[in-house]
Amino acid sequence: MANDEVQKPVNTGRRRFLTASTVVVGAVGAGFAAVPFIKSWNPSARARLAGAPVTADISALQEGQRLILEWRGQPIWIVKRSKAVLEALPTLDGRLRDPESKNADQQPAYVLKANPELRSLKPEISVLVGLCTHLGCSPEMVAEIRPEPFDPEWKGGYFCPCHKSRFDMAGRVFQGVPAPTNLVVPPHHYADDNTIVVGVDPQGA
Ligand code: FES
Repeated sequence: MANDEVQKPVNTGRRRFLTASTVVVGAVGAGFAAVPFIKSWNPSARARLAGAPVTADISALQEGQRLILEWRGQPIWIVKRSKAVLEALPTLDGRLRDPESKNADQQPAYVLKANPELRSLKPEISVLVGLCTHLGCSPEMVAEIRPEPFDPEWKGGYFCPCHKSRFDMAGRVFQGVPAPTNLVVPPHHYADDNTIVVGVDPQGA
């Protein structure tokens, strides 16, 4: 199981995620380290209420780590995926409900155009709304490739403890679980190589 701080919900409501004023980084395995790199993420209270874009510096994000922002009252996950995880994604297609992300409501078109199977603008960086598409719990990140009690052929992904929905590391939903659709990819773009802006499409998109 991932050593993932976000799996300690502070309340039991629909939004089961940590909404502290600072950002939480979850990491996998023994390599956990706090990452003091959130200088640029500091939206004012007024901006957050208005659903203004949020910006994050991802320069210090390590493989297997997850940065969590809040945008429009939702947790936004920014995850750096390893090469092994990226290589495993295509092998899962036959077990997924919508492997090609044909449901256009679940991600912007420019994300699919960039990397269809990875559902991301940059191959290694995944940006997702961290709410289960069943009833809105926040799934756990279980990023390591290893057999899990809920899936002996687990290739890393997200497991929702509420009703056992599973998603891969691109947020694609497995067959045979309650969640009907893939996790949502929010609108976002890169202001520069290491700066993600969540809430605004790329120019010209
Ligand atoms: S809310 Fe995630 S499986 Fe039901």
